[in-house]
Amino acid sequence: MGKLTTSCSTLGFAMAGATIAAATAAEGWVGRGDEIGAERAAVAAMREALGAIEFSGRVVVGEADGDMLNVGAMVGTGEGLELDVALEALEGTTLTAKAMPNALAVIAAAPRDGLLQVPDLYMEKLAIGPGYETGVVDLDADAGENAIRLAKAKGVDVREITACVLDRPRHEKIIADLRRAGARINLIPDGDVAGVINTAMPETGIDMYVGQGKAPEGVLAAAALRCVGGQMQARFVFRSEAEKIQAQRAGVKDPGRRYSIGDLVSGDVIFAATGVTKGTLLDGAVRRRTVVETHTMLISSADGVVRTIKSLTPVRV
Ligand code: FBP
Repeated sequence: MGKLTTSCSTLGFAMAGATIAAATAAEGWVGRGDEIGAERAAVAAMREALGAIEFSGRVVVGEADGDMLNVGAMVGTGEGLELDVALEALEGTTLTAKAMPNALAVIAAAPRDGLLQVPDLYMEKLAIGPGYETGVVDLDADAGENAIRLAKAKGVDVREITACVLDRPRHEKIIADLRRAGARINLIPDGDVAGVINTAMPETGIDMYVGQGKAPEGVLAAAALRCVGGQMQARFVFRSEAEKIQAQRAGVKDPGRRYSIGDLVSGDVIFAATGVTKGTLLDGAVRRRTVVETHTMLISSADGVVRTIKSLTPVRV
């Protein structure tokens, strides 16, 4: 198995280059009501950028079938380190189309088998940032109880705890439980990669992420959280027998398994995300006449340092 020893290696910057390229391409589609156009532009740019990086990459968590960056696609020059890659060239297609906060271009890379291969199904997710003992919150406890436990561990009143939740009817009970406990709720329209990572970034004011979202997004967010020592628990949710079969076909052996963050992402990992629209984590991509300005977060598990990169990418006038 390869190793990503250097804290913020050339490879990390190259990966960040791929999210910068995707976000730069998506910038022209922000607020244009065209999810497909935005996604295509981001995917093509990320694919091209990855193609120039010296590594042998295998996409294990990727874009939809039929896309250039779907699961199984090989990326990189084919030489050098053998890595598995999880990516969303555009996480938050609707957010981009509607010019709403928190759309990102995202990549995680790890030595082979370091990223859990998951089908495009839903998972229950529970995440908190670093600095807490393992098990302080529990996927099987109700959300209000978790908020109370977290408040105790943080040394604050539960009224000072903020949970981030996707605004969906399926989260009615979670929201009611959190309200009953007295926690604040930050309801988001989309984008649970940012939702989960928020918990590790104190400036967001978010303490906990809870709710069901897509599994690929879960692995990507887990990669970032793992680099900085956060915690995450997840479990597949099947809305039909067909989804259970889809999971089995994708190699999920125990459909009821609870995954810890170390099950989702293991070993060394590099994570990069570039803002497409301005959000809680990053500023959005902005066109300034001959350049597109972007802001990127680059994290490596080697040192857990969160580095930010401001880029000015020249574009045609
Ligand atoms: P997009 O498909 O617009 O990129 O939305 C992404 C997302 O909000 C994820 O962040 C989240 O995991 C998932 O969709 C939630 O799915 P659903 O919209 O079906 O609740």
